[in-house]
Amino acid sequence: MTVERVFVAGAGLMGHGIAQVHAAIGKRVTLYEPDIARAVAGRERIAGNLERAVAKGKISPESKALVLERLDATDELSAAADADLVVEAVFEDTDVKTALWAAVDRVAPAAAIFASNTSSISIDTLASAVGEARRDRFVGMHFFSPVPVMPLIELIRGSATSDATEARIRELAAELDKRVIVSADRPGFIVNRILMPFLAEAMRAYEEGLGTAEDIDTGARVGLNHPMGPLELADFIGLDVCLGIMRVLHEGFDQAHFAPPAVLVGLVEAGHLGQKTGRGFHTYPR
Ligand code: CAA
Repeated sequence: MTVERVFVAGAGLMGHGIAQVHAAIGKRVTLYEPDIARAVAGRERIAGNLERAVAKGKISPESKALVLERLDATDELSAAADADLVVEAVFEDTDVKTALWAAVDRVAPAAAIFASNTSSISIDTLASAVGEARRDRFVGMHFFSPVPVMPLIELIRGSATSDATEARIRELAAELDKRVIVSADRPGFIVNRILMPFLAEAMRAYEEGLGTAEDIDTGARVGLNHPMGPLELADFIGLDVCLGIMRVLHEGFDQAHFAPPAVLVGLVEAGHLGQKTGRGFHTYPR
């Protein structure tokens, strides 16, 4: 049975991108937020992305219209009642995610696969929010931002995830033209386990005045051929998101190199969350 109907919970940076790529390959997608204005804003953001692709001549106006036709915005969880796949991309907080999963479990069909886009939280912890009968269909499906551009999915198997579930996610990833890596269910999985100490070290270097933010970023961009410098990348991911992931890693491994740097904590406490608020390690015109 292939996945045809996808319910995406969370219409933020990741959720709207996840909804877009599924609609782009012909899936029927419902984009959910408990606040309808946010769900509609997520759909509008997709329309904006598609409009830019039309302007660049990458897609036709007709295919833009077809993608949008397949995309509904809703504030009703009951819309998950016909989903083959539910992808959860809500705020990176265990309580927020488990509450959502427990509620979706009550309405989604028994056969539906539940995939969390968590970037660091244990899949077994999240799966414990759903009935035992569902846990073989619970899996981590971690996308990277910007979702339409980044060709990777990190697949995380919980202790109950079945081979059949992994096979269906692999099949879907192939349809999405994304490559799969498989991670064990440990804090940060593979990519953030590698990435976060790099970002944290760049933040500590900035904090101690080793170089300016521009020079630290240029060092990685020009000297290492990275598409973005580490401070720029942290601003792009969201400093609150980076802080949350570093905390999960630090709590999980109790190693100093995972500890969130004071400068990061200070920026988040001041409400400077990176690109999305116009200020982080750099400033962004709004
Ligand atoms: N949404 C959709 N498409 C986007 C986009 C967005 N937000 N931003 C850029 N693009 C597209 C552009 O339209 C363009 O497409 P075409 O080539 O088809 O025209 C392409 O990406 C390149 O964009 P630009 O030329 O404007 O800019 P660029 O060359 O500087 O690339 C970038 C932008 C792709 C974001 C690049 O800087 C990059 O790869 N940065 C690193 C991104 C990264 O590391 N992401 C992972 C973050 S970690 C994560 O997501 C997981 C986690 O758990 C924290």
